[in-house]
Amino acid sequence: MRRRRRAWDGPPLETDLQEGVVGTWDPLALEQVAENLLSNALKFGAGKPVAVTLRAEGQAAELAVRDRGIGISEADRARIFQRFERAVARREHGGFGIGLWLANQLVLAMGGTIGIESTPGEGSAFLVRLPLGPEKAGA
Ligand SMILES: Nc1ncnc2c1ncn2[C@@H]1O[C@H](COP(=O)(O)OP(=O)(O)OP(=O)(O)O)[C@@H](O)[C@H]1O
Ligand SMILES: [Mg+2]
Repeated sequence: MRRRRRAWDGPPLETDLQEGVVGTWDPLALEQVAENLLSNALKFGAGKPVAVTLRAEGQAAELAVRDRGIGISEADRARIFQRFERAVARREHGGFGIGLWLANQLVLAMGGTIGIESTPGEGSAFLVRLPLGPEKAGA
């Protein structure tokens, strides 16, 4: 039996993506948002599985990236969307503190929001909500 070569040797990615979730969003911006949230989940996720879900919730599309890593305290949750704000030491986990700032700016520009749910030591969930449907005229 031939085995397929594994292209990914990080922790498992669990995906549950609903079909037909449609909106007027900038593809490059969405890619940046997803990439930043995923790279954080992998970096701070303690090597445990990361789950990505997409579904329609009322008038919004909800993209959630969940990890089971180090988590984020309430005080840190309030500041990490600002530029250069980090809650970990550079020597433990590299980075500039730009990714979440950029992701948040892009989501706001598309009329959405990003929320965080987290229990320190247990993991974090980043929840992106974006308006569904076609753009309104003049918006
Ligand atoms: N999934 C997560 N779990 C725990 N902490 C997180 C998570 N995502 C972000 N953080 C915290 O928020 C800080 C800011 O995140 P951000 O993505 O802006 O910066 P970074 O990942 O450190 O660097 P960069 O994204 O610029 O390479 C991180 O340094 C970390 O302290
Ligand atoms: Mg980052």
